[in-house]
Amino acid sequence: MSPHEKNVARDVDTPAIIAAKPDVIAPANTKKVFIKTYGCQMNVYDSERMADVLAPIGYAPVDTPDHADLVILNTCHIREKAAEKVYSELGRIRKHKEQNKPDMKVAVAGCVAQAEGAEIMRRAPVVDMVLGPQTYHKLPEMIAKVHRSSGEVLETEFDTIEKFDQLPKHRSVKGFSAFLTVQEGCDKFCTFCVVPYTRGAEVSRNVQQIVDEARGLAAQGVREITLIGQNVNAYIAEGPDGTQWGLGQLIRHVALIGGIDRIRFTTSHPRDMDDELIRVIGEEPKLMPYLHLPIQSGSNKILRAMNRDHTYDHYKQLIAKIRTARPEIALSGDFIVGFPGETELDFEETMRCVEEIGYASSFSFKYSIRPGTPGASMHRQVDEDVKQDRLVRLQELLYTQQEAHNKSLIGKTLSVLVEGAGRKGGQLFGRSPYLTGTHFDGPENLIGQIVDVTITEAGRNSLVGVLAR
Ligand code: 5AD
Ligand code: SF4
Repeated sequence: MSPHEKNVARDVDTPAIIAAKPDVIAPANTKKVFIKTYGCQMNVYDSERMADVLAPIGYAPVDTPDHADLVILNTCHIREKAAEKVYSELGRIRKHKEQNKPDMKVAVAGCVAQAEGAEIMRRAPVVDMVLGPQTYHKLPEMIAKVHRSSGEVLETEFDTIEKFDQLPKHRSVKGFSAFLTVQEGCDKFCTFCVVPYTRGAEVSRNVQQIVDEARGLAAQGVREITLIGQNVNAYIAEGPDGTQWGLGQLIRHVALIGGIDRIRFTTSHPRDMDDELIRVIGEEPKLMPYLHLPIQSGSNKILRAMNRDHTYDHYKQLIAKIRTARPEIALSGDFIVGFPGETELDFEETMRCVEEIGYASSFSFKYSIRPGTPGASMHRQVDEDVKQDRLVRLQELLYTQQEAHNKSLIGKTLSVLVEGAGRKGGQLFGRSPYLTGTHFDGPENLIGQIVDVTITEAGRNSLVGVLAR
């Protein structure tokens, strides 16, 4: 889930669609690539890296598929009917190709590509290439093959290490906040989730590669880096001193890079929240006081059925430790209602958990079946109307907490990274340490800077303030 979508508790049926940034400088004789990105921040990162891979062979990113020579759908499988949505998009692309651009090439990337593979080729002959998340570095080779043979190319092997070794060292970014993948994959096998099947096992990138990439981002003016991974706090890799480094040590190291003033990380699993990371949360001033730590359910019975491998008490104790280390930390969580076997009592335990913990922001979903996952064949699936009713009740509580957290900031002066102009003339927009969108009046030369803003108004989703003197 993208931190930039914070404060939006979404239903499972509303996928995030984020266009790839048109920010790569390509050589002359430019061809055009349109990349459509669905889903999480990992996909946003991957789309940027695909653009980086394609730039040296003459592809420049464009914002629409209209004149594109290559269209890439970077898909997400975590939401319901993801594959069907991809097939209908491919239907629209086929029409466009037939009517306007017969030589256009079409690629499907991401988790739907990994999960459906050959099925996509069979059902959608318009597709020239299917590539899984670990194979983006092979794009130029695949494009060449397609052009040579006009045949289809399928590449869905798992080799995360090779991917990171082969991707271009240089990343082109726009803006002042960037994602940096440090870890990929998941070994947790929560019984509702497809990620372990589409992204493969947990793999961490080596420290030096991450530091080099972070330095490159800083050199381009990036001030804030979000270290991302499906299980980012499971990060473990050899450090420059030859010992194994966890996420905490990695954060301390990235914090030494000049120009990088803010660090975030997401998404964490309660099982991997070790003491060193909690110490870093307490000690590292560049680390923003915002933590996304999903619990999914407050019922131990449901947590067991979900294979989360922790109890509510374990989670609560963790939060207490984290709050002791960093009292002002804002918490965010993911919740699923209506997992198979969830009774009204179990659901009330989730409500109690939210009341006891208190969340500044959240993402909440109705359970929906992912074929092939253990949850899909569990007995006692919950009726749709019961799920809907529970989601509404849960979101009411979560939204109330979110608004209360924002209102508690009124009168406080917060540091805001100015991302750009606001909607109204003379207005700027930026993010607070808690990731809340913040609007205030100020001159455009503040864009890209971190400024102090005193909060004067707060709504459920954003803050309004004035530049502090
Ligand atoms: N049904 C509902 N929500 C799901 N999530 C993952 N899989 C499912 C599913 N089958 C939610 C979890 C996860 C977030 C990214 O998406 O809450 O943390
Ligand atoms: Fe999915 Fe669970 Fe892994 Fe998160 S920890 S990616 S929810 S299997």
